[in-house]
Amino acid sequence: MSKLFVTGRRKLSGEVCVQGAKNSALPILAATLLTRGENTIHNCPELSDIEASIRILRYLGCDVKRYNKTLLVKGDSADRYDIPDELMRKTRSSIVFLGAMLARTGKARLTFPGGCEIGPRPIDLHLKAFRKMGVSIREKHGFLECEAPKGLYGTKITLSFPSVGATEDIMIAASLANGTTTIINAAREPEICDLADYLNECGAKIYGAGEGVIVIDGVNSLGAAQHTIIPDRIVAATLMSCAAVTGSSITLKGIISSHLASIIPAFEDAGCTVKISGGNLKINAPQKLESMRTIRTMPYPGFPTDAQAPMLAASCIAEGTTVFVENIFENRYRHTSELVRMGANIKTEGKVAVVQGVNSLYGASVEATDLRGGAAMVIAGLCADGITEIGGIKYLERGYEGLELTLSSLGANIKKI
Ligand code: UD1
Repeated sequence: MSKLFVTGRRKLSGEVCVQGAKNSALPILAATLLTRGENTIHNCPELSDIEASIRILRYLGCDVKRYNKTLLVKGDSADRYDIPDELMRKTRSSIVFLGAMLARTGKARLTFPGGCEIGPRPIDLHLKAFRKMGVSIREKHGFLECEAPKGLYGTKITLSFPSVGATEDIMIAASLANGTTTIINAAREPEICDLADYLNECGAKIYGAGEGVIVIDGVNSLGAAQHTIIPDRIVAATLMSCAAVTGSSITLKGIISSHLASIIPAFEDAGCTVKISGGNLKINAPQKLESMRTIRTMPYPGFPTDAQAPMLAASCIAEGTTVFVENIFENRYRHTSELVRMGANIKTEGKVAVVQGVNSLYGASVEATDLRGGAAMVIAGLCADGITEIGGIKYLERGYEGLELTLSSLGANIKKI
């Protein structure tokens, strides 16, 4: 079992390219199932979650080849409409294959998806939408058996919460449905726009992605496309936190600054200066961070729940108190008890975490409990006295491409053993 060993208190410097967004790549890979011809997907990060999606595509009959960060995906001979439980459990986003299989074959047989343990992650919004689109869904022996005997048809779907996954699943299915689908209270995340861009490049007719109402005119067939995945805004936020806790100055290359619009002000609150020039972001951190105004996680364009743990780790050594309110997932403070082992002063109750900054953290043996919680351990380790030993790094590898190599290239003392 590999672990990360971080020797803290090293300054970082230099520049790094930000990897492609996992949360864009996953639904786009599922959407390739709808297409005929060979898709070329550039900037696809090398992560275990992406590998899990590739395994599902191959199981369904797609031909997938990887050349470094480029994936070639051909779905012409895909004919299966079931996903084994073992593959479903690997990631949460395996659920977007439901919309893709329904659109492709009119049928789907799968179990409930896996993913990080960050609170209950129901799929009721997905199922309710598909029922409205003409799918009959039965739950039997832990399996979902879905069938659209008369095909999928467009309809008006109002989401009670702007779920990212449900919006993506519906968009994918609606692309090949009969008639027009309107999603009201759709998620507005940049990853939704990236998926819509990809599908539109394939010939879909999706309007309004990035806004609260998305309209999809179903088409008869989709061709293949060349597409480049957008940069990962959460990885960018994580690297910014690494610079912040070490009082460092680093440059992130290849970012889209508008995607970081809710994140940058939090770092500025903490006393960092952030300069954007084209696709580059330079963060310069003070020797001592200041506390931040209350951070409330919200659907996009609000502060992302995925950046909460990295930001919370940074606030542990800030001057004064920072309050976090987690509005998206219950149980997304599991990293706090590990940070407390490292000397942090954090109290949590329900949605709220109150972080009273301390002068310094100390190295300890800690365990990553989920993907972003794992990133919080690394950030804390970078500024702690002594050595931090981080277990559970399989979680980190779901979403960060060679994080230890990226940080080493910036001067951190971090090793995977
Ligand atoms: C996606 C991201 C994840 C991010 C999250 C919120 C991917 C692969 N993952 O996850 O990194 O943290 O968005 O930005 O893109 N909900 C329901 N019923 C449903 C679906 C969701 O109640 O059918 C609830 C969830 O329990 C959660 C909230 O809605 O409380 C947000 O979930 P959702 O936006 O769907 O997140 P994911 O798509 O799973």
